Amino acid sequence: MAPARTAAFERDAPAWTVEEGGPPLDLAALFPGCDGVVLDIGFGGGEGLIAMAAAQPGQGILGVEVHTPGVARVVEAIVTEGWRHVRVSTADVLDLLPRVPPGSLAGVRIWFPDPWLKQRQRHRRLVRPDVVTRLVDRLRPGGFVHVATDIADYASEAEGVLAGEGRLAGGVIPRPEWRPLTRFEQRGLEAGRTPVDLWFTRQDGAGA
Ligand SMILES: C[S@@+](CC[C@H](N)C(=O)[O-])C[C@H]1O[C@@H](n2cnc3c(N)ncnc32)[C@H](O)[C@@H]1O
Repeated sequence: MAPARTAAFERDAPAWTVEEGGPPLDLAALFPGCDGVVLDIGFGGGEGLIAMAAAQPGQGILGVEVHTPGVARVVEAIVTEGWRHVRVSTADVLDLLPRVPPGSLAGVRIWFPDPWLKQRQRHRRLVRPDVVTRLVDRLRPGGFVHVATDIADYASEAEGVLAGEGRLAGGVIPRPEWRPLTRFEQRGLEAGRTPVDLWFTRQDGAGA
């Protein structure tokens, strides 16, 4: 990052970022007046998160991204726009999840997760049964999981994993017009890949 952006991030991050360690998050206090909170996992450069935050000011977004420049870009937007409905974390999402209370999230977004194309790397894919179980534990009843990917075998694998989580129902949906086009998707389109959107909702009653 450029020195000025690093300095701004160091100045502003403590107010708007969430650490991986600590007590359960009080989402009502962190996102005052919001109609639910969506966990945006791996938001990359932040352009999709920023577009959604601008489009839905009443919806809280807890963004998690291990790549610091993207987090810095979102913190910059939070400060510039005066947002009170967006928080971010530089944690690995798997380390942050223990702080997210069961049954608390309105939704989870995983847009264009790292594809891990080599067979020996596949176990690293984020949309896998143990991770999905932990995510669904944290969804409120009716909460959604929205996965988008343009890797065909990841799409079918993810659909199977989500359909196999007994508390979820859903499937492939047409690409929502409101989903922002990000650099990753644009690159895939230019390479001839077709994005697949998966939308599942939590069907059972109470939080885990
Ligand atoms: C291919 S990029 C997609 C970015 C963005 N969602 C988009 O559509 O443009 C995947 C991102 O997920 C992040 N990521 C991967 N595993 C993660 C994890 N366990 N916790 C947080 N971020 C993660 C990576 O750093 C990367 O920026």
